[in-house]
Amino acid sequence: MRVLLVGGGAREHAIAEALCGAPDEDVELYAFMPNRNPGIIRLSADYEVGDVTDVEAVVKAAERWRVDLAVVGPEDPLAEGVADALEEVGVPTFGPKREPARIEWDKGFARRLMKEYGIPGCPEFEVFEDPDEACEYIDELGKPVAVKPAGLTGGKGVKVVGDQLANLEEAKEYVREIFEESIGGIPKVVIEEKCIGEEYTIQAYTDGERVLPTPAVQDHPHAYEGDEGPITGGMGSYSCPDGLLPFLTEEDYERSVEILEETVRAIKEETGEPYRGVLYGQFMLTAEGPVVIEFNCRYGDPEAMNILPIMEGDVVTLHASVAEGSMEGDVEFVEKATVCKYVVPAGYPESSEGEGEVIEVDEECIHRRDAIPYYASVNLEEDGTIRMTSSRALAVVGLGDTLEEAEEAAESAIEECVSGENIRHRSDIGKRETVERRVKRMEHIRGGG
Ligand code: GLY
Repeated sequence: MRVLLVGGGAREHAIAEALCGAPDEDVELYAFMPNRNPGIIRLSADYEVGDVTDVEAVVKAAERWRVDLAVVGPEDPLAEGVADALEEVGVPTFGPKREPARIEWDKGFARRLMKEYGIPGCPEFEVFEDPDEACEYIDELGKPVAVKPAGLTGGKGVKVVGDQLANLEEAKEYVREIFEESIGGIPKVVIEEKCIGEEYTIQAYTDGERVLPTPAVQDHPHAYEGDEGPITGGMGSYSCPDGLLPFLTEEDYERSVEILEETVRAIKEETGEPYRGVLYGQFMLTAEGPVVIEFNCRYGDPEAMNILPIMEGDVVTLHASVAEGSMEGDVEFVEKATVCKYVVPAGYPESSEGEGEVIEVDEECIHRRDAIPYYASVNLEEDGTIRMTSSRALAVVGLGDTLEEAEEAAESAIEECVSGENIRHRSDIGKRETVERRVKRMEHIRGGG
């Protein structure tokens, strides 16, 4: 089968490995990506470097390569309608069309859908197209809020009082900034009550009818150790052998999956289009149970790297059947813990320190430590060196029978097998103390601590 992969990050490298490593299907991979990702290049029969939001260019490449299936990694091309355009030329696409993808590219739509269809886990909110009205609502509520630009911001646009914003005055200033600077690209803001709890992700495959959930994962969006510093695209994540998290019960998981199932049904009813791809639910476990923080219309990054390496069965058939709307059977996972840690340029995300510099990766050394390297926003140069951009450079995923083993695998692989003048990573991700802190906090919030 000839497969087009759109995107050039570590998430897409993990998708490429999963598709090419599938035992039951011979895959010829073609990649359209914004950078020269060495891991994807190695697996591809051909590739083109280009703007993934240029729908015409993606479709032309798909036609030139005569692909049978397209798998889209990032959200921006889906928001631009790449799945609609590919399907028009007869290419089944893993990744929703523009209207169902609205669940991510318009947070106002997502909240209104939840409210209108009575989907549980929706906090108190209002959507505004006028900054003055949004500021009045903040005053009316008189309690800490989350301020969310409605459009796409690469996961970095949400600001919460008590975290990135000091008080309600700063929240109102941020509302004005969103409209003045067109943050998110659509003149709309969502104001909602601040939720207290622990965040987690559940990604589910769906063909618009059936929903197959995958293990829960916890991401670490803050830049620095101890969950300090600005929000990034994600510095790393972990999952546990039982598919739950140390603070998340089976019942919490089931309730979250029900929310995803109801959302898939509501999207179809509202837009008339089936949602085909991965529906990503970012949840917060609160004293009252799971609350939806947001939905994404694609695999998470880094969360894709926690589930793809442990997936059993025929990954290619799964992706193809999602794209064709004929998903059957179940999806199974090996009972292993995973810990993903991102190696980034030293200045990420605040300065350009490290940008353009060489990163050296001894892949064999990483594999010997029971870990897997996935290249992210780097470029393979003509001379074979790998240079960092301003963004995340390399994800290293450790596997183990326990979280401790997986963490040690990832940590030792980075320490001993990756080098560069100006690189850093969060060593605390997946460590016992970090996880225990979260469990204690959750016990306290649930009233047991
Ligand atoms: N881990 C955050 C995201 O994929 O949006």
